[in-house]
Amino acid sequence: MVRVFLFLFVLVVASVVSLAGFRGQKFTGTPLQITPDMKHQPKVITQHGSAFFADNRGDHPLIPGTIPAGYNLPGRYLQTGVNNVNTSSTFTSEPTYVETGVMGEFYGDGIPLEVNEKFLQRGRERYEIFCAVCHDRSGSGNGITKAYGLATVASLIDDRIKSQPDGQIYATITNGKNTMGAYGPSIATEDRWAIVSYVRALQKGQSVKVELLSPEVKAQLEKK
Ligand code: HEC
Repeated sequence: MVRVFLFLFVLVVASVVSLAGFRGQKFTGTPLQITPDMKHQPKVITQHGSAFFADNRGDHPLIPGTIPAGYNLPGRYLQTGVNNVNTSSTFTSEPTYVETGVMGEFYGDGIPLEVNEKFLQRGRERYEIFCAVCHDRSGSGNGITKAYGLATVASLIDDRIKSQPDGQIYATITNGKNTMGAYGPSIATEDRWAIVSYVRALQKGQSVKVELLSPEVKAQLEKK
């Protein structure tokens, strides 16, 4: 028993000394790399040159007009040509209602941009590009993806969604919800609000009383 213990003791001491004992020494030779992992790979290192590019520079100046990801430059709203309202988005660490849909600790209500026909048209266009595949052009939730197995798409004309504040719908688009992905990274802030106002129009449009329709719309419907 003692012999076994002594044998193990010596073995442990020898392995600890051999593994840890020489760590303080300095070597000038090439280190032995047992698992080099991804230490050596062709890549551009910041502030270093690179033979890959004709000018031998690693870093390159930004292309004029580059917009940093995650920020909306002030005046961006003008550039999209949707409307002439500035969203007051700036470089700040404190996001505004326009950016988050949240006021204090709660979802806010109200579209923070001027809603007009052009804005709604833009919302419709963006909705049909980004949302209709799942939510259907009417908002029913029976988009084409249903046929391919995405069964839980919510109906946007449901009372539950109707009673949600605008900021909550905006936040759903921005951050996604459960099985719905986030569209914040792919749809500009103003366009997300345009989609919210179009979703509101879809909700209202499907509960309008026949008497309130204009004669032209009525005639159109009767033809069908
Ligand atoms: C890839 C499919 C898909 C796309 C595209 C999509 N959604 Fe959804 N959406 C879903 C699914 C699935 C749910 C249900 C999520 C859940 O289980 O709560 C949902 C839920 C919602 C809800 C309800 C959230 C709640 O509070 O229950 C809203 C509002 C919504 N989507 C709006 C949009 C809008 C606006 C767009 C376009 C920008 C969009 N969705 C694009 C799949 C999608």
